[in-house]
Amino acid sequence: MAHTIAVLSQKGGTGKTTAVRTLADAFRRRGVQTLAIDLDPQGNLSDYFGLAAEKVTIADVLCGRARAAEAISYDLIPANLALAEAELLLAGKMGRELRLRRALAEVTGEYELILIDCPPSLGLLTVNALVASDRALITAEAQYFALRAVDQAMEVVELARDTLNPELAVLGLLLNRADMRTLHSRAALASLRERYGATVFETVVRSSIAYAASAQRASSILDHRPDLGEDYLALAGEVSERLPGLRNGSDACSSLIFSGASAGAHGYASSPPPASVGLSPALSQ
Ligand SMILES: Nc1ncnc2c1ncn2[C@@H]1O[C@H](COP(=O)(O)OP(=O)(O)OP(=O)(O)O)[C@@H](O)[C@H]1O
Ligand SMILES: [Mg+2]
Repeated sequence: MAHTIAVLSQKGGTGKTTAVRTLADAFRRRGVQTLAIDLDPQGNLSDYFGLAAEKVTIADVLCGRARAAEAISYDLIPANLALAEAELLLAGKMGRELRLRRALAEVTGEYELILIDCPPSLGLLTVNALVASDRALITAEAQYFALRAVDQAMEVVELARDTLNPELAVLGLLLNRADMRTLHSRAALASLRERYGATVFETVVRSSIAYAASAQRASSILDHRPDLGEDYLALAGEVSERLPGLRNGSDACSSLIFSGASAGAHGYASSPPPASVGLSPALSQ
């Protein structure tokens, strides 16, 4: 049975999508069977995996037009703008918060880890993710208002646990896009730690312009900039320590990276990128 992690924050641009993309890659390199789910109508995760053109999406799954297994392409369930319409459609339906959980029931046995990329809001889609998950990972940008946004995300997690999913727990808080040379980032980390203690991951993801280029090229930061990728390898190590039963292969993971072995655009060590997957011509140069 898979561990399922919802990656959330209602604040935009805190690195949710990048975290899901890179953690999926890091865990696949460890040999952990990992499914990634794009639950954001922006479809950024699908783009980052180079799978934007897929026809069956999470919107079809949530609306009952397709089964989850039919929507999986290369261990990703993609999304596009149709998800915004699906969210509106679902709003008036009975059991609307349980749609994703029910749909995923048939595939959780196939995976060890499922990572869900939430949209930047705490609405119905994020609630669906929280009901389908056993852990929540909250991302915060190293900014002055980070603490407030984290408080709000924590409240929604608590609400989901109290009303719909008693198995839900917070996996951790990630300070993302941080420049620890600045007083600003150090203050954000100190205030998070003061309030949430060990819930805050030890790993802080450094800020770098290289992430934007990595997303544009649909190439994981582990390939694009292995030196920066170390942050996410360390985070994957912490995540697996916090997930009972998930295999812990951080040494194998590091050796893959630093031996220069490439896991390809999708994080698979052994197979080349599938034919239907690739960079758009404008970005591949
Ligand atoms: N560590 C980082 N340092 C600098 N830029 C980053 C970092 N991680 C992600 N980014 C960039 O910041 C932007 C937002 O990142 P991302 O899309 O992962 O955030 P998000 O929380 O998913 O955003 P949204 O709320 O819109 O879904 C992107 O351009 C991404 O490339
Ligand atoms: Mg996103």
